[in-house]
Amino acid sequence: MPKPALDQLIASGEKIAMLTCYDATFAKLSAAAGVDVLLVGDSLGMVLQGAESTLQVTMQDMIYHTRCVAAGAPDSLIMSDMPFGSYEHSQQLALENAQLLVAAGADIVKIEGGGDMVNTARYLVEHGIAVCSHLGFTPQSVAQLGGYKIQGKTDASAQQILQDATAMSNAGVCMVLLEMVPAALAKQVTTSIAIPTIGIGAGVDCSGQVLVIQDLLGIYNGSAHKKPSEYKAPRFAKNFLCETNNIQQAVTHYVQAVKNKTFPAAEHSY
Ligand code: KIV
Repeated sequence: MPKPALDQLIASGEKIAMLTCYDATFAKLSAAAGVDVLLVGDSLGMVLQGAESTLQVTMQDMIYHTRCVAAGAPDSLIMSDMPFGSYEHSQQLALENAQLLVAAGADIVKIEGGGDMVNTARYLVEHGIAVCSHLGFTPQSVAQLGGYKIQGKTDASAQQILQDATAMSNAGVCMVLLEMVPAALAKQVTTSIAIPTIGIGAGVDCSGQVLVIQDLLGIYNGSAHKKPSEYKAPRFAKNFLCETNNIQQAVTHYVQAVKNKTFPAAEHSY
């Protein structure tokens, strides 16, 4: 079966349900539950490796997990994160690393940040790579951003996100992922650009949603060296497992909730 083209999905007008995935078992299960795009996120640094952030994730890690996901869901659209340090130094290095992820099974690669990254995105697109731009809260810049904080709250920062999204769209990226931005700003970005937006903590008006599978199952409780009691789940996380007591059904409920716009609710948005 050919992979469903992104264009068909967008043309259908349906909300896009994206979910992180790091292995073949969950890839197969998520594909069967109707997840449209599997994101091999560098969040694996936190949820699989137990670290405080995504910064230590390597290209080898991303290639390995992309291969695992592609093996489990050969017909699904797969997006893989370009890890910290794999695309910022030069456009040539970004292209070489993007090609390695594509060779491992990625259909789309995701890079964080606007500004200078617009030229990198354009370069990748010109060389045949489908790119998703990750704006708003960008986890690889957690230190610069002063922690896990909502972005785009001031007029100036909201304008910057809108400008970056527009520039990325003009550079040819196929999607913009918006993390932890006010719902009103995400709506404005979504109506201003011709490509889909995917939200996480960005309100219900994005073209689609993404969640980390561990958050959907309510099983993540902080980095390996911290006590679970010290962990507070982000506002945008929702445990779908407690509704169903069954992992496959929990993922199916998530997909349905994205499609029928009951997730995210106001309580999951900013
Ligand atoms: O790495 C990841 O899982 C992500 C999501 C948080 C969007 O980028």
